[in-house]
Amino acid sequence: MRKINVFDTTLRDGEQSAGVNLNFEEKLEIAKQLERLGVDVMEAGFPASSQGDFRSVQAIANTVKGSSVTGLARSVTKDIDVAWEALKKSAEPRIHVFLATSPIHMTYKLRMTPDEVVRTAVESVKYAKAKFPQVQWSAEDASRSELPFLATIIEAVIDAGATVINLPDTVGYTTPQEIGNMFRYLTENVPNIDRAILSTHNHDDLGMAVANSLAAIQNGAGQVECTMNGIGERAGNASLEEIAVALNIRKDHYQADTGLTLKEIKRSSSLVSKLTGMIVPSNKAVVGANAFAHESGIHQDGVLKNKETYEIFTPELVGVSSNRMVLGKHSGRHAFKEKIVELGFNGTEDQIQTIFKAFKDLADKKKDVTEDDLFALMTEATVGEAVAHYELEALQVNYGTNNIPTATITLNVPSEGTIQEAATGSGSVEAIYNTLERMIDGPVILEDYRIQSINGGRDALAEVFVKIQYDGVESTGRGTAHDVLEASAKAYIHAINRTINRRAYNAERMKQLNA
Ligand code: KIV
Ligand code: ZN
Repeated sequence: MRKINVFDTTLRDGEQSAGVNLNFEEKLEIAKQLERLGVDVMEAGFPASSQGDFRSVQAIANTVKGSSVTGLARSVTKDIDVAWEALKKSAEPRIHVFLATSPIHMTYKLRMTPDEVVRTAVESVKYAKAKFPQVQWSAEDASRSELPFLATIIEAVIDAGATVINLPDTVGYTTPQEIGNMFRYLTENVPNIDRAILSTHNHDDLGMAVANSLAAIQNGAGQVECTMNGIGERAGNASLEEIAVALNIRKDHYQADTGLTLKEIKRSSSLVSKLTGMIVPSNKAVVGANAFAHESGIHQDGVLKNKETYEIFTPELVGVSSNRMVLGKHSGRHAFKEKIVELGFNGTEDQIQTIFKAFKDLADKKKDVTEDDLFALMTEATVGEAVAHYELEALQVNYGTNNIPTATITLNVPSEGTIQEAATGSGSVEAIYNTLERMIDGPVILEDYRIQSINGGRDALAEVFVKIQYDGVESTGRGTAHDVLEASAKAYIHAINRTINRRAYNAERMKQLNA
């Protein structure tokens, strides 16, 4: 059985999804979960792209010890130097350097001849190798590159010190048969190929990213690059969960498996979905809400007689719980703490107290408090904003079919005390947002608003995601509450707090750079 290394790029390529903007705390929380999941390598960001990315790659490299942490760099010395500063304290310093190799990219984007591309790639790998023990080199747009040219450049970068060679289908253009041929050709035509691990990285523009990844594995790839829930540029990257479960369930066919702790998949998926605001479609393989739902009578009958008639793997394999009621309104703090630790919580006593209070409030309103509810409360408490400039203290909405909706809001502003305001709108949510806009000195443009329930049922928790533009900056926010209007207000306030914190961080950095 071959072991396939999992290279997770949720925090780099995944974060390049339109509308996704994770902050420092959110990235760190996802990194810790990916470590729990057991990914071999995690790409934490692109350190030279921004100060924010540098800071989070550095923090992840210094925190995560169970997975190798890497960062992306263009083939220029400045990027490699910055990546070294961010990654030098990681358990196994590793860099990911890339350069395009397809005729269209070399001619129009790089404006370089093939010989110049080979020279640049070799120089960058040598430069990186002088610092990093592990150097991954990627041939961007490999699937549209000429095979003999790929063989030449790969041989040269392996001689220069590359230990992993990644062959991306950057634009999601290739097919399983073509990618299989590419990997087989390179395995057979690069003389020193045994000195490096071949890696596959696929985008989903034609819906074939997972199939292409599996075909590459069958033809020699020893590493697969993917993201949780398949998030990423345009149509996204290959889904980690689909590849991992396909290899595990069809070991007989692929003769390969990953070393992942599969029962951490559901939690990883939920965390990434919550923090990115990218809702997982119900019919998504492995992690969608309907992935184990049997609707037709014939199927239900079959499953009752023998699960295997219609279920090729159990929900438990990927950590989907039966979502039974886990705690009730009479549960004490001790039982509560035990339960959240079992769910992977490792925060401070203060945070436990905050979540316990939120749990008690919820248990008063909701009959069954499930694991998913607790997970939502935990995420809200642990990955909140470092500084809350505005906090919702009270919200009242007057709505009637024949009245103009009016919202009255009290906010706690640590620098000013409490402030109160009221405004109307054509609907209740608009009234709330018009009121908040006055209070925070708008204008604010609401670009997106989405709502979903946790688990369903009339007493379910509501989860709201918003995308706003405030102060010329695009930002996202999320809010969870028992009431949809309160969740809506919280999501908006969260997005505002995130914008202010980001602005403050950038201003502080500018001051440091100018000093
Ligand atoms: O898709 C791609 O080509 C990439 C590279 C930077 C590896 O993400
Ligand atoms: Zn990519």
